[in-house]
Amino acid sequence: MSVSQRLEVSHRAPGHEELHRLFREQDLLCGNVEEWSRTHLSAVAAQDPGCYVRAGGTLVGAALRDGRELLLAVAPDEGPERGQIATTLLQRAPGAEECWVPTDDSDLPNALASQGWRPSTVDLQMRLRLPMTTYAALPDGVRLAELTGSDDAALHGAVHELACDAWGVASSPAEFLDRYVRHPAYDAGLWVVGHDGDGVCGAAIGRIEQLPDARVGKVASLAVAPRARGRGLAAALLGQLCRRFASRGLSLAQLGVHEDNRSGAPAMYRHLGWVQASSKTQWEPDV
Ligand SMILES: CC(C)(COP(=O)(O)OP(=O)(O)OC[C@H]1O[C@@H](n2cnc3c(N)ncnc32)[C@H](O)[C@@H]1OP(=O)(O)O)[C@@H](O)C(=O)NCCC(=O)NCCS
Repeated sequence: MSVSQRLEVSHRAPGHEELHRLFREQDLLCGNVEEWSRTHLSAVAAQDPGCYVRAGGTLVGAALRDGRELLLAVAPDEGPERGQIATTLLQRAPGAEECWVPTDDSDLPNALASQGWRPSTVDLQMRLRLPMTTYAALPDGVRLAELTGSDDAALHGAVHELACDAWGVASSPAEFLDRYVRHPAYDAGLWVVGHDGDGVCGAAIGRIEQLPDARVGKVASLAVAPRARGRGLAAALLGQLCRRFASRGLSLAQLGVHEDNRSGAPAMYRHLGWVQASSKTQWEPDV
């Protein structure tokens, strides 16, 4: 399949603004409340030759490799040719192992399926209006621990161990530090850490992020040790974090959760009043 004569396919890198606008338009069209950050897209484009489609000189499609992931966007106003452009980009960007596209996009899923990709995980972004009207109390025997700052290695290490225990995986300390401590929006005052007689038993990690439509308090991680579950600890930690968000002047909290989360977390969040704001689907090549 080839794209029509009016379209030019090349590796000629676009300007950063133009590239960011393309991804942003696609996300907004599908009601996605998260977007690719300008700096991240620019860094990826600087490292990968990418594949770009232009119509009359204007960028209308892009496929970029970000490690094992393919970032894919096609301008919303390309109408009936949108799927064809996506297919062309996918044919010229082999070897990627995953590609996230807005679940409600009308063309990209069809293009991915036609190229032998299949949908896997669905990521839900959920939101909660602040301030909350009621806050759950900590279960008996649980106290909050205060972080002293970004150099509090002992508490960061304990929260990392808790996360491994809660998720049943052995992630490396370096990966945890990169994701939560060395993050540009790191904020020690938004780490809500619970401990009981046996050490850290639950943690909610927050940070403040500017999204396209709102400044939100983002719940970057929530984990409760298996020994402490089913007693309202997650609800209490989330409540405490949302209280801190509200005290910083935020009127919206947001979190991401996989639809197939093994703990049934989407149902728990709905039970606690969170509502789905948008959804992205991960696609993988069918090997
Ligand atoms: C998800 C997790 C944090 C829940 O922790 P928890 O302390 O057992 O949860 P809580 O006891 O505070 O539950 C909070 C409320 O949600 C309800 N709830 C919990 N799981 C639920 C489910 N699967 N469906 C519906 N409601 C649920 C509880 O009944 C409780 O409501 P109540 O106070 O009215 O009784 C925990 O299982 C965990 O750490 N899992 C692994 C990591 C993970 O998946 N984190 C979430 C990532 S987005």
